[in-house]
Amino acid sequence: MPHRSIIEPFRIKSVQAIDLPSVEEREQALQRAGYNLFGLHADEVIIDLLTDSGTGAMSAQQWAGMMLGDESYAGARSFFKFEKTVKDITGFSEVIPTHQGRAAERILFANAVKEGDVVPSNTHFDTTRANVEYQGAEARDLVIAEGTDPAKVLPFKGNVDITALRATIDDVGVERIPMVMVTVTNNSGGGQPVSMANLRDVRAVCDEYSLPLILDACRFAENAWFIKLREHGYEDRTPREIAQEMFSLADGCTMSAKKDGLANIGGFVALNNAELAAKCRNLLILTEGFPTYGGLAGYDLEAIAVGLNEVLDENYLRYRIRSTEYLAEKVYAAGVPIVRPAGGHAVYLDAKGLLPHIPPEQYPAQALAVELYRNGGVRGVEIGSVMFGKPQPDGTDIPAAMELVRLAIPRRTYTQSHIDFVAEVVIDVAMGAAEIGGYRITEQAPWLRHFTARFEPV
Ligand code: F0G
Repeated sequence: MPHRSIIEPFRIKSVQAIDLPSVEEREQALQRAGYNLFGLHADEVIIDLLTDSGTGAMSAQQWAGMMLGDESYAGARSFFKFEKTVKDITGFSEVIPTHQGRAAERILFANAVKEGDVVPSNTHFDTTRANVEYQGAEARDLVIAEGTDPAKVLPFKGNVDITALRATIDDVGVERIPMVMVTVTNNSGGGQPVSMANLRDVRAVCDEYSLPLILDACRFAENAWFIKLREHGYEDRTPREIAQEMFSLADGCTMSAKKDGLANIGGFVALNNAELAAKCRNLLILTEGFPTYGGLAGYDLEAIAVGLNEVLDENYLRYRIRSTEYLAEKVYAAGVPIVRPAGGHAVYLDAKGLLPHIPPEQYPAQALAVELYRNGGVRGVEIGSVMFGKPQPDGTDIPAAMELVRLAIPRRTYTQSHIDFVAEVVIDVAMGAAEIGGYRITEQAPWLRHFTARFEPV
């Protein structure tokens, strides 16, 4: 067979114009925003890789589904379509819609996690961690050691360290562990997948101690595709079969449909425990809405029901995972240090490796993110000492372990030439790395400072 490019398996039916702000306009925007990319207006950005969450393009089938949305307060047709789809894929008997992933987390943890508990995971995403901590419990990350080494290439860098999991349970006492969580793929660890073998091992530990296993399933389809590509015995299985097997090893999941639901908003909790589900529904009524809409419109439930099926399409997943890897390969070939292998939804640039002359207290990943925007209007997100550094009373910070810039790729939104453009900008910025200077913070909030902090060049 001659070599053939893996193409976007869709045609474009509707487009949204991208403004092309000039270098001067971008410089002005940076100054206005205090060098914080969260402060930019979207029309000041050329290629927006801030997140893959809720930023994807819906299909014609999803838009058609929106027109069918049944807006009945209770028992809407759209709910039953949504519920059936979630049950088909996950096998869980109780399906509770929420307005997004963190609402699913809050509702589940409020009913299942109490003060003094410890919730182990490979790596908790920020909102998951914050919702565990909000219950007065500890969120403990137990990813394998290689999972935090940017340069180490392994097929399943998102795996849970099984020895550490066992040790944690023995150490804190099984009665203080309300559940074990596994995030697929491991977003905070570079979008790295978890193998089926590892999920089976986690299941075995959970069985031994009678603990429930809950998946943070935001990117379950991307994880299933990595299993198909990389795990022996799954080559000939469909992504749907692999996803079904992943879910069959768990007792429930939380989900943000803004990722692998291919929707702009939405999420759910799904469980096998009917008693726990009843408690979750009671809280849902208080904060989200009646259990057949959970804070969503009927048309959102339709869009998610269609999206959850489309995301398991092989042509889609082949293109999706390849397009992320394509960007990673291009920048890596040009000598730009990145987290390897490429994650499912994002490429993570290693600012510590690229800008060794900028010390952590001058935020090298922030400097790199600003420079990508200045150079080419590309917006990524700093995942380093601005986001995770711990401010001390004397005004200094304890720096984060890694200084990364995440370039998250929205689903079905950008074409290969957009991604080529991003690679050109990254490489151009990397060529001038020696000239890039650090930043200092001039204003910051007491928590989650990365959203609103203001900076100035040092
Ligand atoms: N879990 C994971 C692994 C996530 O990546 C996210 C969101 C959530 C839970 C929360 O879902 O946003 O619908 O409330 N991640 C986005 C990101 C925000 O940019 O990575 P949500």
